[in-house]
This record gives sequence, structure tokens and C-alpha cells, in this order.
Amino acid sequence: MLLNKKYNLLTVNTFGIEAYCKRLVAVKTVTALQKVLSENTLHLYLLGGGSNVLFTKDFYNWLFIKNNIKGIKTLENTEGVSATERRSVESDTGQRNNVPLHDMTQRNSVPLHEDVIVEIGAGENWHSFVLWALQNNLGGVENLSLIPGTVGAAPIQNIGAYGVELKDIFVKLEALNLQTLDIEVFTKENCQFGYRQSVFKTDLKGKYCITKVYLKLKKAHHILHTQYGDIQRTLTDMGIENPTIQDISRAVVHIRQSKLPDPSVLGNAGSFFKNPEISQGQFYILKNQYPNMVGYPTTNGVKVAAGWLIEQCGWKGKRFGDVGVHAQQALVLVNYGSGKGLAIKELSEKIQASVLEKFGIALMTEVNIV
Ligand code: FAD
Ligand code: EPU
Repeated sequence: MLLNKKYNLLTVNTFGIEAYCKRLVAVKTVTALQKVLSENTLHLYLLGGGSNVLFTKDFYNWLFIKNNIKGIKTLENTEGVSATERRSVESDTGQRNNVPLHDMTQRNSVPLHEDVIVEIGAGENWHSFVLWALQNNLGGVENLSLIPGTVGAAPIQNIGAYGVELKDIFVKLEALNLQTLDIEVFTKENCQFGYRQSVFKTDLKGKYCITKVYLKLKKAHHILHTQYGDIQRTLTDMGIENPTIQDISRAVVHIRQSKLPDPSVLGNAGSFFKNPEISQGQFYILKNQYPNMVGYPTTNGVKVAAGWLIEQCGWKGKRFGDVGVHAQQALVLVNYGSGKGLAIKELSEKIQASVLEKFGIALMTEVNIV
């Protein structure tokens, strides 16, 4: 579907930046995507929910494709990845939430695995998918509640929150090769996942459009991740001693809403920078100088809280015209209304320069600046 010839991208990016492109096309099927691509002569940009992009110019000669490929199917997992489909549950009708998963298991004659593979269209909203999983008592994504954006973009930066990353439940994905227009399958290994990283942000950047994602969720014996951040304290405050996956989701939603600005109220794209990893030696020296410095040990060194570094440089809550640094979370840059993408980019560069000068640490952007 062609939405417009000169389209204002304001409503399709959570920063709320005004920027124009020549065309924005929403595609609902792989065939429609192939057709649009085969006829396209413009510069191409793939868009999901626009919650991790910063537009810094107009795109007069660009085609933006918005991925609206929907659908959620549960595939019984009898032998790991080579799952046999038992029953499909369509998403577009809105009826899928009414289909309890245990009905599915009762129809099977073979002994069932306690995992289930879920096949999800790339254009599904991530949080709606999490709610569907919770409604069907499927564990694995509860800590990733309320992350904005689409399922198809989730592998791009291996979304993560509260001690869980997409890679922990990831099985494989299907993606359209933008050169050959063929669908190719990527296993977990092929995706080269890392912290806010995948092959689609490095070697294969801009070369594939993800169309389907397959995740492995647990029907029973859920593994609960409650140690990270404020989850345990929040559960205690909620009076919950033996949490379910639904309780963990509620706790995560509560914490996120208390820290992160709602993009529909205040334009933002979540954390603007990644948390930097430094060597143990560098951390030791800095910790001596700044005893309150926040860092978490990793296999290669120490991951430092970028929000803490930015706050120490005095940026937290600072506003410059219509752009600024969020008052509750210094890692989040915000647009108060008619802020320009370039102004946010310039602010981000000043923050990077001051953190480098004070701590000798280079902050890398998480947001995709276009
Ligand atoms: P977009 O912003 O539309 O696109 C992001 C990138 O992926 C672009 O480079 C785009 O070209 C590419 N892309 C999108 N779809 C496809 C596709 N189908 N195939 C190929 N390339 C594609 N992230 C976290 O990891 N953890 C968090 O806790 C978190 N919290 C957030 C909180 C807020 C308030 C906000 C606004 C953002 C947060 N984010 C977080 C960032 C963001 O939600 C994720 O990066 C999300 O996965 C982006 O999805 P999207 O559909 O909006 O992608
Ligand atoms: N902190 C400060 N000042 C601030 C912000 C944070 O001192 O202004 C310190 C606090 O001590 C806090 C620590 O930093 O304990 C960590 O802060 P927080 O728990 O808010 O998490 P974060 O490291 O800032 C990361 C992710 C988030 C994710 C949360 C929860 C990155 C870049 N960001 O934020 O992801 O939701 O942890 O897991 O890894 C995103 O990627 O867009 C995103 C929001």
C-alpha cells in the first residue's frame, strides 16, 4: 500500500522528529515486499516501529518500507528446532488471545516437549507479542515486557532488559535478501548476537529485511529471572513471594514506567548510548577516583553504567531549546516538541566529548542515526 508521495515521518518515529521521505510503503506480505523492491529505484530504508532511529535530514529520494507482516503461530517442539506444526493461531483476527495453549497439547498423541516454538511475523508489535505469550502462560519474554517496536527489529540489536536478551530464547529467523529477493534462514550462530549487536548491524547492515522470527518459549517449569536491578524489591513491594511470569512482567512494566519516558508523551528512543565495557584495570583506577562509579563485571572486563557517567558530567535534566537529557534517566535524550534530529545528534556528540574528557571512556550510540 502506497501511503504518500512526500510523506512526513513524524508519526512513525518515537523521537517525534519531522522529516520527509519521497515514499512510505507499508507491506503486509513477503510477496508485496518482493514486488515493491523489484520495482524500486529509490534509496531504501526499512522501518519497524521507529523506536530506535534518529532522523537527521529529509529523505527526498528515499523509499521507506514499513514492515506490517503479521501472524503468530505456535509450533510444537518435539525435536528441538525441527518442530512439527500442531496448530496455528492467526493474529490478525484478534482472536488468538482466546485460544488457550493447553487445548493444543491435548490434541497431540505424542509426548510433548515442555518448550514450544513460536513463529512470529516481523511486523507484530513486540509488547503485544509478550502479552500474548503471558496470556498463554508461555515463559521466556516476561523480562522483555514493554520494549517498544516490532518483532522483526528485535534481532537487529538483540534487544535486552532486566537480565534477559533476545538471544536467550532465539531459534532462527527468516529474512529477505534485498539483492536476490530470496528468503534466507539465519540460525542463532549466523546472527552473531552480542550486547545490543548482531550481524545485521555490522557485516550485513542494510542487506536483509527480516520477515519472520522463531522463538522458543516454555510451557511449564518457567525459569524466573528476578535478580536483576529492582525486580526483586518491586515484587516484595507488591507483596509477591512466589512470582509467576505474569508477576515479573508487571514488576518490569512498573519499573520501566517509573524511569523511562513514554514516547507518546515525550519523544525519545530509549537509551541513546550503549553501556561501555572497559578493562578491569581501567575500572579499578576510575573506581579509586570515583568510589560511587557503577559497574558490572562481564567476561571481558566491566560494563559501566553510561547513565551514571553522563550524570556525573552534569547533563542530567539539561534542556537546550526543544531537545534535552531526561531528568530521570541521563541515558535517554528527549525531544520536547519540535526538536530537530540534528540538534539531538549535536547534543549527543557534546555528551560523548565530555564523557571522554572526564573519564577517558568513549560512548557508542545505540540509536540508529540516519
Ligand atoms: P526501528 O526503530 O524501526 O528500526 C531499528 C533498526 O532496525 C533500523 O536500522 C531499521 O532499519 C532496522 N529494521 C527494522 N525492522 C527491520 C526488519 N524487519 N528487517 C531488517 N531491518 C529492520 N531496546 C532494548 O534493547 N531494550 C530496552 O529496554 C529498550 N527500551 C526502550 C524504551 C523506549 C521508551 C524506547 C523508545 C526504545 C527502547 N529500546 C529498547 C529500543 C527499541 O525499542 C528497540 O531497539 C526495538 O527493537 C526497535 O524496534 P523498531 O521496530 O522500533 O525498530
Ligand atoms: N544511573 C545513574 N544515573 C542515571 C541513570 C542511571 O546513575 O541517570 C545508574 C544507576 O546507578 C543505575 C544504573 O545506572 O543503577 C543502571 O541504570 P538502569 O537500571 O536504568 O539501566 P541502564 O543501564 O541505564 C539498561 C539498558 C536499558 C534496559 C535497562 C534494564 C542499555 C544501553 N540500556 O539501561 O535498555 O531497559 O538497562 O535492563 O543497555 C535501551 O536499550 O533502549 C534500553 C532502555
